[in-house]
Amino acid sequence: MAPDADPYVVDWSERTTGLVELAQDEQQWYERLAAALLRPADRVAADIGCGGGGMTLALAAALGEPGRVLAVDAAPELLAAVRDRLAGQPDPLARVDLVEADLDAGVGPVRSAAAGPVDLVWASASVHHVGDQQGAVDALVSLLGPGGRLALAEGGLPARYLPWDLGIGEPGLEARLDAANERWFIRMRAELPGAARMPYGWTEALRRAGLAGVTTRTTLRERPAPLGEADRRRLADRFARWVDRLRPTGLVDQDDLATWDRLLDPDDPAWLGGRTDLFQLAARSVHIGERRG
Ligand SMILES: C[S@@+](CC[C@H](N)C(=O)[O-])C[C@H]1O[C@@H](n2cnc3c(N)ncnc32)[C@H](O)[C@@H]1O
Repeated sequence: MAPDADPYVVDWSERTTGLVELAQDEQQWYERLAAALLRPADRVAADIGCGGGGMTLALAAALGEPGRVLAVDAAPELLAAVRDRLAGQPDPLARVDLVEADLDAGVGPVRSAAAGPVDLVWASASVHHVGDQQGAVDALVSLLGPGGRLALAEGGLPARYLPWDLGIGEPGLEARLDAANERWFIRMRAELPGAARMPYGWTEALRRAGLAGVTTRTTLRERPAPLGEADRRRLADRFARWVDRLRPTGLVDQDDLATWDRLLDPDDPAWLGGRTDLFQLAARSVHIGERRG
């Protein structure tokens, strides 16, 4: 992040490497969900705010030919990364169209690219970056034909990776980082163009957009300790990005920052990447509704 950049404005192009890593890490979760969400007659799906393309690839593989997937994102760097990932995939894949579109300005470019009703619209952790979330949900629903579904991956529980007492600093470090992230998130949303509060949950947002059969599926993601060496390194890198994002905000206190600096320094004996007690425990929710009639 540039030193004078607003820490509450996300530069998605800077996140490309991290989002591609995350998508690769979660590829099996995407594949299971694509299989569960698609129906045999489905031909067109959209991945809105596709990031590193985890769901784009899963949908393209599950739909196969002659299906189509629209990979939609506001950041051209991410669309380029998805194109590179697609190049390494085995056939037969559904055709993937890369669509550069900013949801804050509506879904016009997505509608044009779809050139007809979409059977499944998937949006993971992207609608919460749009100023008017209900407006975005309404717009996404307008892309669906009868029987089409909107699936929003939002919420769940914050992931846990670290033991409570790390042996340096005050115990409970990870929970305090989550609390700081929560404060960051409130301000990040408040600074979005056209920011509007949505004082109700995602299932209610889907109902207000006219969807029926609204439900939530939550899956537990668990990888017990010990994680492999590559996973531990990636986790240390991920924490480094979170801490760097929060550092200029003052939301993490100086003692905790000093602890993080030691945990994230590969030359320090306390380096996180060297620990065999790191794990992953996360719960991810997907809210689904159907357009009837
Ligand atoms: C937190 S990432 C999630 C990426 C991916 N869906 C996932 O779950 O890993 C948010 C994504 O939404 C995209 N995004 C954020 N604001 C957007 C907007 N206004 N219009 C379109 N895409 C947006 C970002 O570029 C990024 O790819």
